[in-house]
Amino acid sequence: MNIPEWLRDLGLDEYASAFRDNHIDPQLLLRLTARDLKEIGVASVGHRRKIIDAIGELRKQAVHSAHPAMAPSELGNAPVGAPEPEVERRQLTVMFCDLVGSTALASRLELEDLRDLIGAYHRCVSDTVQGLGGFVAKYMGDGVLVYFGYPQAHDDDAEQAVRAGLELIEAVGRLELPSRLQIRIGIATGIVVVGDILGSGEARERGVVGETPNLAARLQSLAEPDSVVIGQKTHHLLGRLFDFRDLGGHAVKGFSDPIRAYQVLRPSSIASRFAALHGDHPTYLVGRDEELETLLRRWQRSRDAEGQVILLSGEPGIGKSRIAVAIMEKISAEQHTRLCYFCSPHHTDSAYYPIICQLERAATLNHYNDATAKLDKLDALLLSTSTAVEDRSLIADLLSLPMDGRFPALELSPQQRKSRTLEALIRQLEVLACREPILMVFEDVHWIDPTTMELLDRIVDRVRTLPVLVVVTFRPEFTHPWARHPHVSEMMLDRLGPHDGIALVKRILGKRSLTAHAVRQIVERTDGIPLFLEELTKAVVESSADGDGALPTASSSDSAIPATLHDSLMARLDRLGPAKQVAQIGAVIGREFSFELLASVSVRYSPSELRASLDQLIASGLLLRHGTEADIFLFKHALVQDAAYSTLLRRPRQQLHDKIARALEAHFPDRAAREPEVLAHHFSEASEPLRASEYWLTAGAQAARRSANVEAIAHFSRGLNELKSLPSGPDKDRRELALQTAIGTPLISVHGYAAAQTGAAYSRARALCHQYGDSLSLHAMLSGEFVYHFVRGDYDVMRQLAAEAGRSAERTGDEALLLAGHRMAGMAAMHFVSLATARSEFETILRLYDPGRHRLPPVLYIHDPKISALSYLPIIDWILGYPDQARSIAAEAFRYAGELNQANLTAHVRTFAGAGLQELLGEVSAVAEHAGAMISLADQHSMGYWRLNGLFLRGWVAATSGGPAARYSTHAREPERPRCHGRELASNPLSLHALGKTAES
Ligand SMILES: Nc1ncnc2c1ncn2[C@@H]1O[C@H](COP(=O)(O)OP(=O)(O)OP(=O)(O)O)[C@@H](O)[C@H]1O
Ligand SMILES: [Mg+2]
Repeated sequence: MNIPEWLRDLGLDEYASAFRDNHIDPQLLLRLTARDLKEIGVASVGHRRKIIDAIGELRKQAVHSAHPAMAPSELGNAPVGAPEPEVERRQLTVMFCDLVGSTALASRLELEDLRDLIGAYHRCVSDTVQGLGGFVAKYMGDGVLVYFGYPQAHDDDAEQAVRAGLELIEAVGRLELPSRLQIRIGIATGIVVVGDILGSGEARERGVVGETPNLAARLQSLAEPDSVVIGQKTHHLLGRLFDFRDLGGHAVKGFSDPIRAYQVLRPSSIASRFAALHGDHPTYLVGRDEELETLLRRWQRSRDAEGQVILLSGEPGIGKSRIAVAIMEKISAEQHTRLCYFCSPHHTDSAYYPIICQLERAATLNHYNDATAKLDKLDALLLSTSTAVEDRSLIADLLSLPMDGRFPALELSPQQRKSRTLEALIRQLEVLACREPILMVFEDVHWIDPTTMELLDRIVDRVRTLPVLVVVTFRPEFTHPWARHPHVSEMMLDRLGPHDGIALVKRILGKRSLTAHAVRQIVERTDGIPLFLEELTKAVVESSADGDGALPTASSSDSAIPATLHDSLMARLDRLGPAKQVAQIGAVIGREFSFELLASVSVRYSPSELRASLDQLIASGLLLRHGTEADIFLFKHALVQDAAYSTLLRRPRQQLHDKIARALEAHFPDRAAREPEVLAHHFSEASEPLRASEYWLTAGAQAARRSANVEAIAHFSRGLNELKSLPSGPDKDRRELALQTAIGTPLISVHGYAAAQTGAAYSRARALCHQYGDSLSLHAMLSGEFVYHFVRGDYDVMRQLAAEAGRSAERTGDEALLLAGHRMAGMAAMHFVSLATARSEFETILRLYDPGRHRLPPVLYIHDPKISALSYLPIIDWILGYPDQARSIAAEAFRYAGELNQANLTAHVRTFAGAGLQELLGEVSAVAEHAGAMISLADQHSMGYWRLNGLFLRGWVAATSGGPAARYSTHAREPERPRCHGRELASNPLSLHALGKTAES
């Protein structure tokens, strides 16, 4: 269909360009609401009504002709690559409205009268809710089901629903009918799947699956006639925008837990949205020192009648209002007048709205005052500034107060009235400024109505020579006209840095704790936007009562994106039309994606369509182009990616993951080899456990090779997790064995040789090994178990394992296993101070070892027999009286460790062949150097065990060179020694140092 033509037929072709500029296509047209039309620029209520009616007709035709966008067959079998446009998961606020006493009405009225009455009531409901952005989903007898947040989400859907509810009660009450109608309204918010086609023919409608509509209906049944009752989640979203009565918990059918209900009493009288949504007294401010300093300097300057204007801009939630509050707090002790004006998203067309609200607050007018009381209060306020009677009349009129004869009636044309009113308001400001300095705050000017904008323009001009500081806040979409004024300065708020981000999370946590890892993740995912930081932290704390810090992700939980953010993120996505689907595909690929990959999985779109959508996403501030590579795109916030991702239903989402994984394998082999974890992730999410576990194994081994131990453990663990869904059998067991043996090494690095996790991995490997083990896994398992018991000091087990290795080597003729047996025997002998035996075992290793045949694969380097021999021999040789040999073997140990290049081994060599030998040689500074190197290596690769060893060595250095006080302080600074490192530090071969000292004397 052709939209300009359609508009022309309606006699409204003046809007053709607005529709085009806002990218409204025929599909989107069907989903437009009255509110969207207002945003597009259809200011006239009559025109909006006309367009909405015409859209209603189009919708009907679409159903009749099975419009492609609504055809069920397509919805059922949407090709992969384009998520079904109409069926998705989203947060919705659902209103259920029911007529009170309809059965009694039915028995009292003639059938025809009843039909008229219900008809009038339905019209009233649909007019009222549509005007506030609601979507009438269904009439059920005298009940009406309405969605807010569909088809287009807005960041204030819950608020609009409640406003609509309150307005509806009044509107229905005003209907001119034989008897006055009363209604009950229930409102609930939650995640639902929306868009399934229910019913057939004329009765087809957009259905919602989820418990939210039921909840709304149940809440409705709790409401008194002519009242609005809301659920907990809606209540949470509203903050203190309304006054409520807590109705407590109620057991209701269909819900296992009691549901909490609140009755909405009235819009609250709290002045600002900031205070209503964040509380009156935010107690802390993180960072922003420079901004505050600038504001204070400007304030000082303005006090000398050199008025200043600060334009504070930044994206939603960045902290504009918080800074405005901070400056108020800073100067609260100084003598001044504070004037605050708040623009509102619901009053962008209400002339003077912020001004009227400010005057009402200043004069303390409230709901309970009658007209005379209000006039009295206003008069008192205005007389305190000696306002002339004509100005008082104009201002009373501004507040729509009825004239009671106290002011002269002013016969003015609308234009004259407007300009006189503006003059009167400026005069007010001048009078106040004569008395004391003024701080004026204009909040959220992106929502300013045109008349207030005219006033603000005059104020900016006028304050130049008055003691006034004007702080104007707005979001980036607002373009201000004051660039040329020398007394106006702009301040663009940037995101908080990681340091401030962490500080903010910690302030919100208070006494509760989260792991450092979880805190870091929150800071990363929220990109330093304070609002996101706050919301995500609260959501994480609420979702994990034990504070273990597991961060939910969009794929793992509905609650991944806090409810409060969900609406605003969805609103931004919904505004995009078809580009939203491109965002969804991008979101499945990841935070960052290349055009090439996107194109290879989005077969439904041509490259030029994709480019157009990407441009649109960039223009709307949701995507960024990569700094250096033109065809790489990234989501501006991780949470936007989560929001786009969370709208997809499970099946298309899995199909997309599968497609992406296969495209990566087929067309991007380099990437697949470089980042196997990306493929592993996509196969996991595609529910392909076999493929996923393979890639997790590869990814873990790759990370372990780079000594990225924490990552390696995470990858192997995910691989193990994937196996859970496979049927039992040899194939599954072999895969598990590979993962269990591989995870041992990084577990040792992070948690220590004697940690329970390490022991558990090897003992599970032992169980599997007996059935399926090849010699390599037998080797890894025996070596791992041996070292676990070695460090724990289980001497008998050590001997048994060494013997078992020897026997197995004999039985199988496996040379690597034979070397492992020598290694174990050498270590056991060392432990029993049979140094000559130990020396001979280790020397045998060096003699037999052939790197070509015996070197273990990288993930098992930790058990490499040669490196063990080279590490321990220097100490043994020194004690036995071969210092030169000790030195040369130590040098070889370092050379070989460099070749293997594995952090855990380097630390091992530094401890024994390095610090251990130097200690015996009395080279204190060399020991200190090794200790320092070990600690920094340990910090770099999350190796707790080696860090402790480094600290002990440092303690030795301090004690040797600085006496007992120094020793005490070194130990006191380190937190309590974790149990998982077991007895190892007492029983580890470092005790050989003591032995060496004895031999020395
Ligand atoms: N520097 C900060 N220190 C502590 N909390 C902050 C800081 N900046 C912002 N916050 C908190 O983050 C939340 C969002 O901040 P704020 O409401 O000031 O954002 P905004 O830029 O005014 O957003 P909007 O455009 O939606 O009005 C608030 O709860 C606020 O208290
Ligand atoms: Mg704000």
